[in-house]
Amino acid sequence: KRVVVFISGGGSNMAALADACAAPDFPAEVIAVFSDKPAAGGLVKAAERGIATYTFERRAYAGKAEHEAAILVALDALSPDIICLAGYMRLLSADFIRAYEGRILNIHPSLLPLFPGLHTHQRALDAGMMVAGCTVHLVTEGMDEGPVLAQSVVPVLPGDTVDTLAARVLTVEHRSYALALRLFADGTVRIGADGRVERTGYA
Ligand code: GRF
Repeated sequence: KRVVVFISGGGSNMAALADACAAPDFPAEVIAVFSDKPAAGGLVKAAERGIATYTFERRAYAGKAEHEAAILVALDALSPDIICLAGYMRLLSADFIRAYEGRILNIHPSLLPLFPGLHTHQRALDAGMMVAGCTVHLVTEGMDEGPVLAQSVVPVLPGDTVDTLAARVLTVEHRSYALALRLFADGTVRIGADGRVERTGYA
């Protein structure tokens, strides 16, 4: 399966996916990395891995529609099977999502449906959570609410700060996303006609 990864920042999740795909038996390959930020550190990580990179700086386009249209032209030319959002900090329009319906994955740094949106670790700490974690889900038109493909849990430890918790979650994000991509690419986990996840195996 041909995968394009979307990033906006450091790209550690993208790197984890690319490194997992490098295994000979892995059922997917990262064919390109797209970023809306030309200075994204993940673009260096992609280039170091010999992966083609494309940047679409938002302010270079008149509006959101033009920005997405340019991305879709490049994307369609690559004919990807799967799109993985990995620290991509922009919401995709319903039209964009429809163009790749059921084939867009995202990783979110909380145990959805808890804490959709931003500042998830601060919110988990504020809520006194004893566990935290990440969710890999199918992207639907609503934010952070698509069918769940994989989740990983970490403990919240006494004295945790946002940074210590984020670092602990990021470690399991990398494992969770690579596993979810493998299972999604080889069809072990798929989305049924009713939009619910069907799985013949577990992440
Ligand atoms: C990760 O915490 C991810 O869950 C969130 O943004 C961060 C991206 O990290 N979406 P990276 O760019 O993959 O290193």
